[in-house]
Amino acid sequence: MTEASKPAVIGIVTVSDRASAGLYEDKGGPAIEAYFTRVLTSPHRFERRVIPDGFESVRDTLIDLADTVGCDLIVTTGGTGPSPRDLTPEATLAACPREMPGFGELMRQVSLSQTPTAILSRQLAAHRGKCLVINLPGKPAAIELCLNAVMPATPYCLDLIGAAWIDTDPAQVKTFRPQAK
Ligand code: MTE
Repeated sequence: MTEASKPAVIGIVTVSDRASAGLYEDKGGPAIEAYFTRVLTSPHRFERRVIPDGFESVRDTLIDLADTVGCDLIVTTGGTGPSPRDLTPEATLAACPREMPGFGELMRQVSLSQTPTAILSRQLAAHRGKCLVINLPGKPAAIELCLNAVMPATPYCLDLIGAAWIDTDPAQVKTFRPQAK
């Protein structure tokens, strides 16, 4: 995919029994959308979903967003912890056969500098063909911290898997693309 030849489609999935039932305001989805609106300079559009916790709901939503909607990047929020209903990482791996372990390692590392309970998040990233999925914890405070950590390398990851070309405002996040050999 070459520079800005098609707008990137960014899926934003809030995973929460309470938000999907209307008992709780979805704060994570709007915060993720606001983050990308501020940071991305390349053309893009959003596809938002608010779904219950659980293996099948998350797996099927990710597959639909990747295969039918054609998302290049999907960011989930919630369902990464140790509670029985927290199944976002398992569902992500069921939809995306190839894990990218560096994302989870880095996000936990930066989160641990702020809160000891960051070790409770099993968040990861993996890709389904040309679509990269990144899990974030449900706490709105985690969103900017985790995305700031992984965003510098995310555009190049999308290049390598054949997804749409994205770029960032260097005043917000500096994208790093290695020079061609
Ligand atoms: N990471 C950051 N940056 N900030 C947080 O407040 N909360 C932790 C952890 N990671 C947190 C965080 C807590 S308390 C839990 S239980 C796990 O994320 C899982 O959260 P989730 O089930 O909402 O995904």
